[in-house]
Amino acid sequence: MLVLGVETSCDDTGVALVRDGRLVAERIGSQADLHSLFGGVVPEIASREHLRLLTPLARSLLDEADVGPESIDTVAAARGPGLLGSLLVGLSFAKGFASVHGARLVGVNHLHAHLLAPGLERELPFPALGLLVSGGHTQTYRIADPFTFELLGRTLDDAVGEAFDKTAKMLNLPYPGGPHVDALARLAEPDPELFPRPYIDNPNLDFSFSGLKTAMALYLEGHPELKLARMPESTDVAGELAPSHREALAHVLASFSFAVVDALRIKVERALDRTRDARSLIVSGGVAANSMLRAAMGQLASERGLELVLPSLRLCADNAAMIAYAGWLLAQSGYRHGLDLEAVPRGRAVPWDYTRES
Ligand code: KG4
Ligand code: ZN
Repeated sequence: MLVLGVETSCDDTGVALVRDGRLVAERIGSQADLHSLFGGVVPEIASREHLRLLTPLARSLLDEADVGPESIDTVAAARGPGLLGSLLVGLSFAKGFASVHGARLVGVNHLHAHLLAPGLERELPFPALGLLVSGGHTQTYRIADPFTFELLGRTLDDAVGEAFDKTAKMLNLPYPGGPHVDALARLAEPDPELFPRPYIDNPNLDFSFSGLKTAMALYLEGHPELKLARMPESTDVAGELAPSHREALAHVLASFSFAVVDALRIKVERALDRTRDARSLIVSGGVAANSMLRAAMGQLASERGLELVLPSLRLCADNAAMIAYAGWLLAQSGYRHGLDLEAVPRGRAVPWDYTRES
C-alpha cells in the first residue's frame, strides 16, 4: 500500500511517501527563517506559506519517487491538533487529491504520529509509555497498541519546547531557541541547584513549566550581562561569543536544561510506576532531539529494564513521514475518513471518528 502523507499543522510544510510501512521519499519546506523575523510562529503567514509550498513540494516528491498520482492508495493528512488555518490548507489539499485520484482519505492525530514515528526505523514494543515533548505539547501516554492511546499527564501551562524557546528569546538567541540552548548547554557542567524543579510536590502526572520560565527571567534580571547585545546571524551562536560570555551562558543554560529534564524525569518515573506492564519508553517530538533529555531517558530506561525508543533526529521534529506512517497503520487496519473530515485546533481533543472498512 502506497501512502502520501501531508503535514501542515504548524510552520513546517511536509509531504512524504510510505510504501508498506517504509519511507520512500519525503520533502520538507521549513518556514523557520521567516517566522524567526517575528520571534515566533505567525499563524496567518504559516497558512499562506503552506498554500504556496504544498503543491510544488508534492510534485517534486512524486517526480523523485517516479510515482504517478493514480498509484497512491491512501492520502493521510495531519488533522490536528495544530493551527487551524494551517491544518485546513493541508486537509483541503488531501481531500482534493484523494477525490481526484480515487484514493482513500485518512486523518491523522499529529501527536500520535510523533509517538509512532520511530516505527519507521524499528519495531515498537507495546505496551509502551510515551513521552511527547514538542513546541506545543508535553504529554505522557500509555500506548497499548498503535491505535490505543491513554493520556496520563499533560502540561498545565507552557510546553517544554516553549520553555526552551522563551528562555532563548529572553537571551536574544534565534528562534527556535531549543537547538541553540542545547548546543550551548553541552559546553558546561550544570549546577543542579541553580533552578527549581517545577510542580513536582503533588501526586499527579501533569507538568508545569511557566514557573521555571519565571525563575529564568528573575535570574536574568540579576545577570543582565548574559543577554546577547544583538541576535546572532549564524547558526554557530557559541562561535560568535567572547569566551567568558560563552562560558557563563553555557553554565546557566546547562543548569536550566538540567532542571527541565529532571522535572520530566520525575514525572515519567511516576507514570512508569502506574504503567507496570510497559515494555518500552518512547520519547518523541522536537525536544526529543535534546542531548541531555536523550541521555536521561536512556539511563531511566535501563534502570527500569525497558527498551528505549528514540527516533533519529530528523524524525523528532515535525515531518510528513510520521503522518504517512501513522496513516499507513490506520489504513491497513481498515480505518478511513470521508470528505467531511474536520480539522481540530490546538487545545481540543482529537476525536476517534474513523469509519471502518471490512
Ligand atoms: O515537534 P516540533 O518540531 O514542533 C511542534 O509540534 O511543536 O517541536 C519544536 C520544538 C521547538 O520548541 C524547538 O525549540 C524544540 O522543539 N527543540 C529543541 C531541540 N530541538 C528542537 N529543544 C531542546 N533541545 C533541542 N535540541
Ligand atoms: Zn509536532
